Formats: sequence, structure tokens, C-alpha cells
Amino acid sequence: MSVTVRVPAKVNVRLAVGAARPDGFHDLANVFLAVGLHDEVTVTPAESLTITCSGPDASQVPLDRTNLAARAAELLAARHGIDPSVHIHIAKDIPVAGGMAGGSADGAGALLACDALWGLDSPRSELLSICAELGSDVPFSLVGGAALGTGRGEQLTELEVGGEFHWVFAVADGGLSTPAVYAEFDRLNEGVAVPAPAASPPLLEALRTGDATALAASLANDLQPAALSLRPALADTLTAGTAAGALAALVSGSGPTTAFLTKDEESAGAVAQALLASGTCRTARVAVSPARGATVLV
Ligand code: C5P
Repeated sequence: MSVTVRVPAKVNVRLAVGAARPDGFHDLANVFLAVGLHDEVTVTPAESLTITCSGPDASQVPLDRTNLAARAAELLAARHGIDPSVHIHIAKDIPVAGGMAGGSADGAGALLACDALWGLDSPRSELLSICAELGSDVPFSLVGGAALGTGRGEQLTELEVGGEFHWVFAVADGGLSTPAVYAEFDRLNEGVAVPAPAASPPLLEALRTGDATALAASLANDLQPAALSLRPALADTLTAGTAAGALAALVSGSGPTTAFLTKDEESAGAVAQALLASGTCRTARVAVSPARGATVLV
């Protein structure tokens, strides 16, 4: 017997970052939107806890206990005093270390899959608290749709989305380390009074009404200057996508994936083609949002 969970990637349509806290994290007003690029996580009873991964970028995925999927199985098993011996297989389609919460998605996916495999039927609140223990972005991977994340991003308020948004994601060569990008944010803001992070009302309204042009006008990522400082070439990718007709362009989360909001499916196809032809990215993926959170496949 095995259980498979499908879990989406995310883009941050507003990532407002406050000053560094004493615990090293940053207070955020983080508006997450789930997008239709998915990993599938399958768990099967086994002699010991093992992980395998398939997909074009599988070689970049850690297969040891640092993988959030393994940690999710261990945390859930420890809470219930059971043995975490499962084989976890990740069919990976979300860009790795790209700022699209691929690792977080696998954590949330493995958690939900183990919960079903072990017949625990844990309350949502317990699953969300384990997700928050795994990482700041993991609760959102479970919930999907759209949500405002406060605290370090793990305290979620679900948001209404009134329509579909069409995106192109330009995948860069190599990843960017999230702690390194936050450290660069701190370096760039040294001596600056960083304001308390807040989500913008026009952005929430654009999501609620499904208005892509209005959403494009309010997209913002406070980590973008830090990601560009560490990876200056990303500026060329942003320019190429905007020149090809995207409504707006931004770095996705801590990068290096860049996100392009387009007016419709046709425009998304054209922007993706232009980005590929520009030679400024490794590959370009088209996706629609919102997407459902982690879901058990039957
Ligand atoms: O929570 P997560 O494990 O995803 O965080 C990874 C790293 O990103 C943290 O160790 C920290 O350096 C940075 N981070 C942060 N503030 C947040 C979320 C993450 O500084 N709100």
C-alpha cells in the first residue's frame, strides 16, 4: 500500500521584509499564491526511512535526513510514538532551490502522505504546527490557494482569489541560498530603519477581483535587491520578460527563479518563448494560479 500527495509551488506576490529579529528570522508580510507546478510525494512502508527522487533536476535534491520530507515523517512519527520507516519518493517538477518553495512542498506533501498512510487523521491544526516547525514556507504548501503569512511567514490568513492568473517562471542555472539572501538584505539595509512589514490593500483587492493588470501594478519583493546583488545577471532576465510583453516581472521569493505575470494564456506562451530565445535563463515554465494545497491523490 502507498499514498501519493500532489503539492504546488508558490510565488510571493508581495514579500515585505522587516528588520532582523533577535532569533535571526525576519518579520514578514508575505502574500503567497500557489501556482500550478507540482511535486508528487509517494510514501510506502519500508524497512527504514529512505528517499528517492525523479525528474530532470533530481540530482540536486538531497536524499538524506536534511530533506524536509524525511524530517516531516520523523516529526509526525515522533509525536505519535511510531516508527518512521517509510520509503519516500519525490517526483520533482518544481525548480530546486529556486525560491518557489519546492523543498517546503515536499515537506508538506510527505507529512500529509504519512498521516494518511499511518491512518492518523491528524487535525489540521496539528499538521500546520508540524509544518511551521519544518520551515517558514511549509504551512502555505499545505494550505495552497492564496494566503497572507505573518510572523516569519508561518502564521497564515487565507485570502480570496477572484480569478486565474497566468505566469511564466524563468528558471536560472543553480540555486540561491535563502539564508544568504536574507543576510544580503541585512547588509544592504545596514543603518537603515526598516519599516514594519505590511501587505498593501490594492494588492489584496487585485487578488480578490482577479484583476491581472492591478496585480501587476502592486507586485513587490523586498528581497529582490538582495537577490540581484548576489546574482546581477537576473536583471537581464527581468528585462527580457518585460520586453516580451509581461505585465510585470519580479524575483520569486529569495530567487533565483524570476516570475512574469501575463495578461492571458497566449501572452504567457509568447513570453516563455521570448525568455528561452533570450538565452538569459535555463528554462521557462508556464503556470496558472491559484492552485490547491497539498492533496491526497486517490
Ligand atoms: O524557515 P526557513 O527554514 O525556511 O528559513 C530559512 C532561513 O531563511 C532562515 O534560517 C533565515 O536565515 C531566513 N529567514 C528569515 N526570516 C524569515 C524566514 C526565513 O530570515 N521570515
